[in-house]
Amino acid sequence: MARFYVTTPIYYVNDVPHIGHAYTTVAGDVLTRWRRLSGDEVFFLTGTDEHGLKVQRAAEARGVSPKELVDETAAQFRATWDALDIAYDDFIRTTEARHYAAVQKFLQTIYDNGDIELGTYEGLYCVSCEAYYTEDELVDGNCPIHLRPVELVVEENYFFRLSRFADRLLEYYAEHRDAVQPESRMNEVLGFIRGGLQDFSMSRTSIDWGVPLPWDPKHVAYVWADALFNYCTAVGYATDDERFAKWWPADYHLVGKDILRFHAVYWPAMLMAAGLEPPKHVFAHGWLLVGGEKMSKTGLNQIAPADLVADFGVDGFRYHFMVDQRFGPDGDFSYEAMVQRYNADLANNFGNLANRVLNMAMNYCGGVVPEVRADGPLREVAANAYSGLSEAMDRLDFASGFGAVWDLIRATNAYIEDSKPWALNKQGDSEGVARILGDCLESLRIVALLASPVIPNAGGELWRRLGLPGRPEDQRVPEAAAWGLLPAGATLEKGEPLFPRKEA
Ligand code: ME8
Ligand code: MG
Repeated sequence: MARFYVTTPIYYVNDVPHIGHAYTTVAGDVLTRWRRLSGDEVFFLTGTDEHGLKVQRAAEARGVSPKELVDETAAQFRATWDALDIAYDDFIRTTEARHYAAVQKFLQTIYDNGDIELGTYEGLYCVSCEAYYTEDELVDGNCPIHLRPVELVVEENYFFRLSRFADRLLEYYAEHRDAVQPESRMNEVLGFIRGGLQDFSMSRTSIDWGVPLPWDPKHVAYVWADALFNYCTAVGYATDDERFAKWWPADYHLVGKDILRFHAVYWPAMLMAAGLEPPKHVFAHGWLLVGGEKMSKTGLNQIAPADLVADFGVDGFRYHFMVDQRFGPDGDFSYEAMVQRYNADLANNFGNLANRVLNMAMNYCGGVVPEVRADGPLREVAANAYSGLSEAMDRLDFASGFGAVWDLIRATNAYIEDSKPWALNKQGDSEGVARILGDCLESLRIVALLASPVIPNAGGELWRRLGLPGRPEDQRVPEAAAWGLLPAGATLEKGEPLFPRKEA
């Protein structure tokens, strides 16, 4: 059994979760559920990033202590993920004792190895990014990401000697061409490294909301030097060597393109400095745009996941963000497009198919599953649904993957139109009717199974209505995706529409 370790970013707790955070987290969950269905042992990590100036200031602005703020917001993130049926294995918070212990051991190791040294720093700092910028990276004097003013900061602090790692990073990436995905992001990373790496300041004395450096505790670790290490803390670094050896290096860090550099340059260099392996893959997806602009906590265009869940349900929410646009480039979110896709793919294609097949089976077959023939005409499309999904999921191409499953749905709907079971029923050809509905019910079983990573509730409910025991997630593919496994004689249930149509 392969082991698969996938992470989301740990989100800042200066404000509440929005659909941008949900986007990455749902992707991690769908990947997790798919790999579990494929038989892997999966560890899926998410959590919250609770230190740093941004959080300290947000607390001040609200007149509460940082601790009060982070407890409250971390709970909101957790509640949001629970509401979206995110099957995470651990929710890490950087204010936990286990994380302090791990970060301190990690930084001490790098310090002892000579790659952290004292120096003076003067730079332009964006608090929203928690990052320094050079003059020429600014856009009209503002942070290129948040388009807000930067601040001049002068501090004596410790530097991580990133400049020493350019060659080792380039060597590593030459040997691991797919370590940064999609490919365009790899090119961006290589360009950045070749442009020359600057040492970066990895401690602060101006604030105390952070992890103290073990060798000089008036300094706290720079928030990114603390945050990135969450990925190691959670799998037992400093607390359980065996567990750490089992899970590290991570298979996928899923991140937005805004934090690519931290994950694909700073992070592997720091790991190398500590004698640890870099992550196997960093996948940086694009931004969800609302009205053409990145949706962000600092922007005014944020949308709460709960509002969309109220309108489209959990599965409708998950499906939309995984399928409406490619995982990689930027994509525009609009409510109208969400209604359209929901109606087309979920209410019509998926929902109607389930509805009409179950309905006919109730009326023509007495609500009992007929024999499924081994060589049904949908057998090949069903095999393509599995192989298409499986190949696409290896590239994290969720849209194409579930597109292959929806091809099976469309083919089954078309088969019903062509073969007209209602006409055969009228002619009294009950064997003909049973053959066709056997094909369609078996197709529904495979759809319920393969769609379950993205729409776990509807997948599970359809599975149940087909008279199948357990849940799709108890199954293993490819075996369970083979044609002809729906047991004859089981009792069907029609039920209410799985995805009621929305008015535009
Ligand atoms: O950067 N479109 O946290 P953060 C797509 N704490 N994804 C979006 C998005 C959007 N409009 N807005 C946010 C941090 N995201 C650090 C991370 S990791 C060790 C530390 C998602 O709260 C996307 O995954 O600013 C992005 O990278 C992340 O949220 C940034 O979350
Ligand atoms: Mg951010």
